[in-house]
Amino acid sequence: MRRELPPTSGLPPRFADLYREPPFALPDLLAASLGTDRVTLTCSGSAALVIAFDYVKQFAIGRDIVLPAFTCPLVAYAALKAGLTVSLCDTMPSRFDMDMGMLARIINPDTLAVVPTHFGGHLTPVTPVRGLLRSIAPHVFVIEDAAQAYGARIQGKPVGFGGDLGVFSFAAGKGLTLFEGGCLVAADPVIRLAMDQHARPLLPASPMMEAQRIIELIGYHLFYRPEGLSWVYGRPLRKALQRGDLIAALDEDRDAIPMHPIGGWRQKVGANAAMRWAQHLAATKDAARQMRAVLSAIPQLDLHWPDAGFEPSQTFLFVTLPSKRQADQALMQGAAQGLGITKLFAHPLNRYPALAGKLPTTPTPQAQALSDRTVTVTTSPLLQDSDRARIADLFQAIVRGR
Ligand SMILES: Cc1ncc(COP(=O)(O)O)c(C=O)c1O
Repeated sequence: MRRELPPTSGLPPRFADLYREPPFALPDLLAASLGTDRVTLTCSGSAALVIAFDYVKQFAIGRDIVLPAFTCPLVAYAALKAGLTVSLCDTMPSRFDMDMGMLARIINPDTLAVVPTHFGGHLTPVTPVRGLLRSIAPHVFVIEDAAQAYGARIQGKPVGFGGDLGVFSFAAGKGLTLFEGGCLVAADPVIRLAMDQHARPLLPASPMMEAQRIIELIGYHLFYRPEGLSWVYGRPLRKALQRGDLIAALDEDRDAIPMHPIGGWRQKVGANAAMRWAQHLAATKDAARQMRAVLSAIPQLDLHWPDAGFEPSQTFLFVTLPSKRQADQALMQGAAQGLGITKLFAHPLNRYPALAGKLPTTPTPQAQALSDRTVTVTTSPLLQDSDRARIADLFQAIVRGR
């Protein structure tokens, strides 16, 4: 059977997770690992964003959400679902962080919230965003999108608490997974409680959705191994890439955000898995360190080394190549060889056809250039030395123009 590496470092599932009684409840385990006393469980990171947007809407007249131009399209759909509009802030040259000059220019009386966004391979500083808003627009909320950053820390503290609200995702590929899941956090205990209460009516029971997620989670347990991933991940990826459909290849052709609670059984499976999380995070960081060491021998690659004190969850590494043509080659060749090389997002937000007419047409040239030239490389502990060597050879050949 063909060996396929996962694109990110997902926590390898164990069948015993499906039936064992966990020693602690999932919300308690999540709260403890995030150093808080309460998290609000949601059925996805996007659902958590919808709730966060809906929550802050009560306290302000602004109706516009500022998003980084390089982020997941579901974030834009979440803002639209909450009845809000979206403005786009370009990124810094060759960085994933928002351009603070542009941010200062686009904030206006209609701005409701700004969403600084972390990624598996990069953490963004939230403090400067907060500082800027305090000085020019104290009415604007900060919603920290840590969907990809469960386990990440800045200056030793878990991310997600640097703004008014924080959002995590437990979707497949994010590390710890319930196949789909998420949670909301807040630094302020009053907001934590109020948001928990606000969330309940927004997540009405849906036995059909839960049944679907249970089947998907069992499927994840069956297929999440190098021999199974080729069927459920590699083949559809390669087929979509061959027909030139990058959005489908990256599974970004979804706009629905179901809203429902997470059933008790999935919470138990997640709690069992969460017991192995700390160990997995350490193994992921080790795999990331080894991958960086190998790729840092190729000076043409920008590996986006973290700033001092920033510890991303490292579920993948960002690798920026000198040109779009080379990044496209890395994507196609990496996918063809099942090496866990892919792209995080197909485009900057203003280039998704399904979002056309729903978002402003603000030019975001830096996000475009970054998106065009950047691929991601897996940091799964399933990586062997031979895989690392093949990945390095692939990039080496591409930058040498072979
Ligand atoms: C940055 C970011 N925010 C939010 C989300 C939405 O999370 P979910 O897939 O759990 O709905 C994602 C998902 O990929 C993401 O990458």
